[in-house]
Amino acid sequence: MLLDDARFDTRAIHAGQEFDPTTGAVIPPVYLTSTYVQDGIGGLRNGYEYSRGGNPTRTALETQLAALEGGIRGLSFASGLAAEDALLRTVLTPGDHVVIGNDVYGGTHRLVRRIFGAWGVRHTTVDTSDLDAVRGAIELGTTKVLWVETPSNPLMKISDVAALAELGNEAGVLVVVDNTFASPALQQPVALGADVVVHSTTKYLGGHSDIVGGGLVFAAGQEELAEQVGFTQFAAGAVSSPFDAFLTSRGIKTLGIRMQRHSENALAIARRLEGHAGIEHVFYPGLESHPGHELAARQMSGFGGMISISLTGGAEAARRFAESTTLFQLAESLGGVESLVNYPSEMTHASVRGTEAEVPESVVRLSVGIEDVDDLLADIDEALARL
Ligand SMILES: Cc1ncc(COP(=O)(O)O)c(C=O)c1O
Repeated sequence: MLLDDARFDTRAIHAGQEFDPTTGAVIPPVYLTSTYVQDGIGGLRNGYEYSRGGNPTRTALETQLAALEGGIRGLSFASGLAAEDALLRTVLTPGDHVVIGNDVYGGTHRLVRRIFGAWGVRHTTVDTSDLDAVRGAIELGTTKVLWVETPSNPLMKISDVAALAELGNEAGVLVVVDNTFASPALQQPVALGADVVVHSTTKYLGGHSDIVGGGLVFAAGQEELAEQVGFTQFAAGAVSSPFDAFLTSRGIKTLGIRMQRHSENALAIARRLEGHAGIEHVFYPGLESHPGHELAARQMSGFGGMISISLTGGAEAARRFAESTTLFQLAESLGGVESLVNYPSEMTHASVRGTEAEVPESVVRLSVGIEDVDDLLADIDEALARL
C-alpha cells in the first residue's frame, strides 16, 4: 500500500520512519551528529553537510509533519515561536501589516507587537471568529499575513478556516493557522484552504511535556515560500536538535489515540463544570452552549483536551481553584499526557496584560490529560468544594 493513500493513524506511524537499511532496525537511528564526512570536497551523501542545514532525524520528523497536515513540506524548529519568527521574517518587510486574532497565544501576540513592531511592521488585532471584522481589518496591498488560531488560546473561540482562507486568498494575504490546540488528528487547516500551518510541537505533537519544539507545514502552491523559509531556517539557525526531533516523532505515533482520549476526558469535565454555581462560564467547543459548537463539529473531528473556565468569584476564586487541584498540576504549557492547570493572566498570557489580547483575571485554563477520567473528576470536585 502507498503511504500517500494511507489513513491518518497509519501515516502518523510510518511517514518518514522507514527502517534502517544497514541493520534492519525498525526504528531509524537518532543521528546525534553535527557534521558529515564528504567523499572528496563537495561529495555529500544524500545532501547532508552540517546539521544546521539538515539532519536525517529532523528530516524524518519534517516528512511526518507534512504527511499529517497534508502539506508539501514540513520544517522543524527549536520552538513554536522560532517557527513563527522564521515564517514572519521571511514574509514581512518594514511597512507591512499583519491581521492577528485577539485571542491568540500571548507569546505570538508579543512577537508580532514587540519584535516585528520594532522593525516597522504594523498589526491589527481582531476577533477572527467575526468575518466582517477580519474583512474590515485587511488593508489591501499592505496586509501580508492573516494569523488565525482556532480553537484560540485561552478562550477557545472557533474561527471558520475555510471562510477566512477564501477571504485571505481574495485579498492576496497569506493565511496562517496555528493548529497547536486541535492538532492534525482533529483538524487539518490545509484541506480547509490555509496556506501555512504552525505548531508548537511542544504540546500535543510531542505529547509528553519533555521537549520544546515548533513546526511549519506548507500547502501545495507554497513551494517557493517553503524554499525561502527553509533558507531562513538554515541561515538564522533555529533548528530542532536531533534528540528533540526523535522524541517528537515518537510522540506523534500515538497522537490519534491520545487526542481521542483527551477529547473524551475533556468533554466529561466540561459537563461537570457547566452548571456549577462557582463557575460563571465554561469555554469548551464540545458543549452545545458554545457559540462555535456547530462550526467546530464541521471543521474538527473531535473537540480536543483544552477547557477554560471563568469563575463567579473573579480573580480570587480563580487563583484559589488553580492552586487547589492536585492531579491537575499548576504549570504553563499544555498537550501532555498529564493534566495541567494554568492561570493565564499571570502565567501564559502575562505578556499581553494591558493590550487588546488581555485575558480576564477570572479565567483558569485546563489542559486535560489522559489519566483515568474518574480521578480527574474527583480532583475537579475537590477544587470546586474549596471555592
Ligand atoms: C497556541 C500556541 N502557539 C504557539 C506557542 C509557542 O510555542 P513554543 O512555546 O513552543 O515556542 C504556544 C505556546 O504555548 C501556543 O500555546
